[in-house]
Amino acid sequence: MQTHEIRRRFLDHFVRAGHSEVPSASLILPDPNLLFVNAGMVQFKPYFLGQEAPPFSRATSVQKCVRTGDIEEVGVTTRHNTFFQMAGNFSFGDYFKEGAITFAWELISRSQEDGGFGFDPERIWVTAYESDPEAAEIWHRVAGIPTERIQFRDGKDNYWDMGVPGPGGPCSEIYYDRGPEYGAEGGPVADEDRYLEIWNLVFMQDIRGEKSPKLGFEPVGTLPKKNIDTGMGVERVAMLLQGVDNVYETDLLRPIIGKAEELTGKSYGVEHADDVRFRVIADHARTSAMLIADGVNPGNDGRGYVLRRLLRRIVRSARLLGADRPVIGEFMKVVSDLMAPSYPELATDFTRIETVAVGEETAFLKTLSTGSKLFDDAVTEVKATGGRTLAGSEAFTLHDTYGFPIDLTLEMAAEAGLEVDEAGFRSLMAEQRQRAKDDAQARKHAHADLSIYKELVDRGATEFTGFDELATEATVLALIVDGVRVPVATAGQQVEVVLDRSPLYAESGGQIADRGSLTASGTELRVDDVQKIAKKLWVHKTTVERGQITEGDAVLAQVDSAWRRGATQGHSGTHMVHAALRQVLGPNAVQAGSLNKPGYLRFDFNWQGQLSEGQRSDIEAVSNDAVGSDFPVNTFVTDLPKAKSMGALALFGENYGSEVRVVEIGGPFSMELCGGTHVEHSSQIGPITLLGESSVGSGVRRVEAFVGLDSYKYLAKERALLAGVASSLKVPSDEVPGRVEQLVERLKTAEKELERTKAAAVLAEAGSYVEQAQRVGRVLLVAAAAPKGVGAGDLRTLATDIRGRFGSEPAVVVLLGNVDGKVPFVVAVNKPAQELGVRAGDLVGSFGPSIAGRGGGKPEMAQGAGTDPAGIEAGLSGVRARVAEIAA
Ligand code: SER
Repeated sequence: MQTHEIRRRFLDHFVRAGHSEVPSASLILPDPNLLFVNAGMVQFKPYFLGQEAPPFSRATSVQKCVRTGDIEEVGVTTRHNTFFQMAGNFSFGDYFKEGAITFAWELISRSQEDGGFGFDPERIWVTAYESDPEAAEIWHRVAGIPTERIQFRDGKDNYWDMGVPGPGGPCSEIYYDRGPEYGAEGGPVADEDRYLEIWNLVFMQDIRGEKSPKLGFEPVGTLPKKNIDTGMGVERVAMLLQGVDNVYETDLLRPIIGKAEELTGKSYGVEHADDVRFRVIADHARTSAMLIADGVNPGNDGRGYVLRRLLRRIVRSARLLGADRPVIGEFMKVVSDLMAPSYPELATDFTRIETVAVGEETAFLKTLSTGSKLFDDAVTEVKATGGRTLAGSEAFTLHDTYGFPIDLTLEMAAEAGLEVDEAGFRSLMAEQRQRAKDDAQARKHAHADLSIYKELVDRGATEFTGFDELATEATVLALIVDGVRVPVATAGQQVEVVLDRSPLYAESGGQIADRGSLTASGTELRVDDVQKIAKKLWVHKTTVERGQITEGDAVLAQVDSAWRRGATQGHSGTHMVHAALRQVLGPNAVQAGSLNKPGYLRFDFNWQGQLSEGQRSDIEAVSNDAVGSDFPVNTFVTDLPKAKSMGALALFGENYGSEVRVVEIGGPFSMELCGGTHVEHSSQIGPITLLGESSVGSGVRRVEAFVGLDSYKYLAKERALLAGVASSLKVPSDEVPGRVEQLVERLKTAEKELERTKAAAVLAEAGSYVEQAQRVGRVLLVAAAAPKGVGAGDLRTLATDIRGRFGSEPAVVVLLGNVDGKVPFVVAVNKPAQELGVRAGDLVGSFGPSIAGRGGGKPEMAQGAGTDPAGIEAGLSGVRARVAEIAA
């Protein structure tokens, strides 16, 4: 049975049983604990915790998941995969254990003709949590599983939580017996290779604290309702239903290996080392395509770094398999063809996916050749000092800076006849990993601190009134000082104020928070920032300027109206620039982030390479045209599919609720899902001035702009600057460019003139060198240090001139210069001296080592340079001695 069919049957089964089919969430959700979505339940977490009311009581989904804990292990065995699909059914306070077990059993045991998976019931084993006899009893009663095939296990295997404080519960797992050729008898407790886990049913009922019940710690609370979260491994089921040995042989992975065989000429299944590489390619190509489709770009930290590693490992594996040309584009194409039936974005967005992946490959190939140079230098140095081992730190630099995986370094070192200090390398890697872990730990703590708001979140949302009014009467629900609830705060204190209603915009969607005030009789608080907690609680960060504030007080919450006017200009301006970018660059310029505040905006988008001057000015022109068109701004609320079908742009990685707000400016010109505040007519934005464009990571560009009055102020400043320049040049402003060009020309001419004068002065010295000539044997020798700053060219002219002044006398001229720490040198020997056996090239050896120099040439003239001016005198003595030997 094909994988796409397995997914379909799963969803249909649960939809028939009253579940809402929910699309997979993006792989990147804004959760500080998660690099990537790694389970089907992630998008439903707020429902389990009771932070948000679920719009359905039963749901089913097939979630794309990425787990990248052990990338190095991928391919070494056939068990690890970084991407997989988790099919799940979820109950939010609806059915519980018996329902979950019954639904799962029906699907796995029902025959394939009847739409099920048709697993042989005799081969099914199940496990239950050690203190959950109820689950075992249900399995026995509902599915008829004999007690010998039901095993109890402790929390390590049969308790599930997210690895951090949050929802959790005991679980029951379903296993399939692959038969004696795969391992020992005795059920899952004896052998998890033979008994393969296919489905995990979690009875989600607890709140896990800092320490996990997996390790025997008590949960810290009970969820408001009993829920179900299940996860079936789609790839594992595919492997069993397709009768193949491992996941790499299934219909959605084997063809990628096939493509790699075609591109490299090697065959899969012959050599273990090659097979590992084939599997790395298959696994990573799929994961990379899925990540890029969800908006990840290669980068140097976080998600971007994971993607970069995956892509680079593909390139390297293909190279080690013998590929000698770029391969990534071809792999992306196979993945897209294979996966698009379930994930159409892989086809519709293919050009962008390919561009991003190929861009990284190109960059890496360049890196590889630079890295190879570093590697060669390191090897030369080790050999020069008679060593046999490349230092661990070199291997680490190659890995960390140049993306050289250790096995590539090992292989190249072996070819060069060296060993690598692998232990040293590994310890540096371990240090780096520890740093990454500490980072993750820090993120978790930031998360845990939010617990103080929990009770407030449970009470309900703050009502946002700021789309319609700038002042609202509100009640103080809570006061928090330094993370602690307090009953009252007084003048001078900084206090977080939670209100039941507020007109102040809380930072989100790239728009920074409103400034404003909270007042009551005798009391005034200045609002410096507003943040949303759990998407619904408005927390005002304030300073008490006058009086005092008490929990329960009635206050007037007011937005600073000038600030708000500026903020709406900034935000609407961002939409204009976004629309203009897409008009000028096309739909591949996908938004990657934005920030706007009064007077200023910046907008990041996926794009390879710099924008041209022309593109920049076009974007600015289109934006300002749209402003001038005075488009009305419409906002309305609709559902996500409708908004998308209207062409509204959504942000990657954002998880939208069932209702979305659309902001439309100028009909088709700009339509975006957006919760921000906007002007009423585009002309209110005022002028937009692009400040320039820059790179913010691989494949992501940033434009920045001023809007409104700030735009005017910026232009006025530029004009004043120009006026200043014009006045110093004593020309009208519009003649400044011509005048500057003229001045630059004149400067160049003057510099050349100066050069000529200097050279003439040097040459004028020729006579004095001749006077200094010493007789050495039958030869007249000029061996001298030239004045500082005389370059190689002038030195040569000078030496030739001096040599010419000796007529038929045998003469040798050696000049050593001194320019910026270098020692350029010239040796000139005339015909009569050559006849006595003096050769210019041969003399270099007499002074070269003293000045750390190298060079050579013909009998009449030799040239070169050294790097040690301190050795000039010694070098000159060397010359005299050598000439004396030859000419004696
Ligand atoms: N959340 C559970 C898991 O990831 C079941 O969906 O295994």
